[in-house]
Amino acid sequence: MWEKVQETVNYIKSKTNFSPEYGVILGSGLGGFTEDIQIEFTLPYNEIPNFPVSTVQGHKGALVFGTIGGKKVVAMQGRFHFYEGYDMKEVTFPVRVMKYLGVQRLVVSNASGGVNPFYKVGDIVIIYDHINMMPEHPLRGHNDERFGPRFVNMSEPYSRDLINKAKAIAIELNIEVKDGIYYGLQGPTFETLSEYRMVKILGADCVGMSTVPEVIVARHMDMECFGVSVITDMGDEHNIDSVSHSEVLEAAKKAEPKVRKLIGELIARN
Ligand code: HPA
Repeated sequence: MWEKVQETVNYIKSKTNFSPEYGVILGSGLGGFTEDIQIEFTLPYNEIPNFPVSTVQGHKGALVFGTIGGKKVVAMQGRFHFYEGYDMKEVTFPVRVMKYLGVQRLVVSNASGGVNPFYKVGDIVIIYDHINMMPEHPLRGHNDERFGPRFVNMSEPYSRDLINKAKAIAIELNIEVKDGIYYGLQGPTFETLSEYRMVKILGADCVGMSTVPEVIVARHMDMECFGVSVITDMGDEHNIDSVSHSEVLEAAKKAEPKVRKLIGELIARN
């Protein structure tokens, strides 16, 4: 794994000497963030050695290098999901690569189903914690100490500092945000009513099929994380039968300008 990561990093460095401080992973319907980046260089996933290739509709596959508010970022336009068939080491490989390109802070976005009754479709939720219920762990197996420790402290998976800063920015820009706990499931089915109820009973506010593995691996390497979720459907008895991928994309698209603004300002100011 170490060698593979270095090989990929060396390849990317041979293509660009751009050294990003921020990594951004864009979720379903939120890929437009790259339009806010002053792009210096784009690298399609299929040209990057050891990189998986994105298969989900609505996800593009490229690393985008550039600046936002003067800050150097690398954005993943399209992420890899466990449900696509990749193993967790593949899903999280780009995060390892980002780290050795110089990234210290990882910003992740996703679409999720809300189970908190105070949420509504279109809400922007700042993720302050997660519950990992994915069936495979990205850190299972031999631990390479060069990446990080065997046992990773997860008391602050999402940086409180970045959360506070994002909330202050949201107030200033008049963007309504909520906060919540994200429950990570493998998918690709949306949850049954009983599963949504379980998610709620177990203490989460929203549920989705991504983010958790990337954040775990980022924390393994001591990167600071910030996560934001767009509620694209509600897991309650009144809305349950309406969940579809196109609705998820549509709801995410509507919230996208605000999410872009929030993430962009957070990066630009920190
Ligand atoms: N469940 C899981 N993943 C999701 C959902 C959902 O309701 N909405 C968007 N991604």
